[in-house]
Amino acid sequence: MTNRSSDFIPFARPCLGDAEEQAVLRVMRSGWLTTGGECAAFEREFAAAAATEYALAVSSATAGLHLALEALGIDAGDRVAMSPYTFTATAEVVRYLGADPLFVDIDPSTLTISPQALRAVLEQSAASKHPVRAIIAVHIGGHRCDMDAILALAHEHGAVVVEDAAHCVPHLTSGVHVGTEGTIGVYSFYATKPITTGEGGMLVTNDRALADRVRIMRLHGIDRDVWNRYRSTTPSWQYDVVAAGFKYNLPDLQAAIGRVQLARAPQLLQQRAQIAAQYRSALQDLREIVLPPQAPSHSHHLFIIRLRQGLLAIERTEFIAQLGRYGIGASVHYRPLHLMSYYRERYGLQPEDFPLSLEAYRSAVSLPLYAELSSQQIERVCGSVRAVCDQHRVAESR
Ligand SMILES: Cc1ncc(COP(=O)(O)O)c(C=O)c1O
Repeated sequence: MTNRSSDFIPFARPCLGDAEEQAVLRVMRSGWLTTGGECAAFEREFAAAAATEYALAVSSATAGLHLALEALGIDAGDRVAMSPYTFTATAEVVRYLGADPLFVDIDPSTLTISPQALRAVLEQSAASKHPVRAIIAVHIGGHRCDMDAILALAHEHGAVVVEDAAHCVPHLTSGVHVGTEGTIGVYSFYATKPITTGEGGMLVTNDRALADRVRIMRLHGIDRDVWNRYRSTTPSWQYDVVAAGFKYNLPDLQAAIGRVQLARAPQLLQQRAQIAAQYRSALQDLREIVLPPQAPSHSHHLFIIRLRQGLLAIERTEFIAQLGRYGIGASVHYRPLHLMSYYRERYGLQPEDFPLSLEAYRSAVSLPLYAELSSQQIERVCGSVRAVCDQHRVAESR
């Protein structure tokens, strides 16, 4: 066993190099730090990579999701369907607008929203005073939701689809880029994500009116971009405020890092896919764990294994603590939102209301996954998982 800090394998680590450093220096020396030319270039490059009409850089995916729902006109009392198996950002933005998240259980194999459960919820709420106005599809760990089914259900029930693609980078899946099939998609560049700017996000859409609204609302509701204000011949102080907007713009310092990361995305994604493949082949014979399903196109943000019930004498939390003693950083994605006190109390929810999310939470362990994880480190992670299973296997399954 080892847990000397120099040997510790963290759960996540950004992959940044000389090119990112040079990009930051370029911006620092340019005299323009906030949203400007770098951001505009990042948006153009992202729109090209995702094959969308519009890409709008924002300060975080949370900001992007908020702007998306605001632009779509989600309002107080509206209902937005989503699975509880997500990070709180997905639901909190619904609350920002006074609307309510309507939780829908997951498909336990992919951990994404179950189309069957969604159908039932949409049918139930269609009969009520508050039909579901929007569906947020969260591509957990980079695993694309069953978008064909979700889009068909949304169409049938007159709801819009927003994709929470916080765990994704745009890459082709059946001819379209993950995150671009709904009316709006939002990516995250948070420090642990497949491509990062420290904090940041990108909203994509093909709808011009929505893009225009987001562009204005991300910067105070001002009718001119700050960049445009300082470079155009019309004086910078001549602008109007057309709405009480937000301060959700992405500064050039971060956009410059994002441009480099975006250019490296295909390579980073390939490295992540190779790590997932190495995990898969090294762990496939372990009866005590269930591997995540293989998908033809995946952003490989997370590698979530599940502990099989009844085969281990320890619970998931202790399993992670044991990995920690071997110097392996592991995590849990996610503690479902219906278990969180805010949502539980506000909506009177019980743990068993979403049994598949609850079961997934109790058994999920996310292993380290980042582009710079070496082959030896992956072997160490797998060796440690195996050792913990060996030590805690229940007698009859030995
Ligand atoms: C599923 C999901 N949605 C949204 C977010 C919010 O992303 P950000 O930190 O960029 O606001 C996260 C962040 O981890 C996430 O995991």
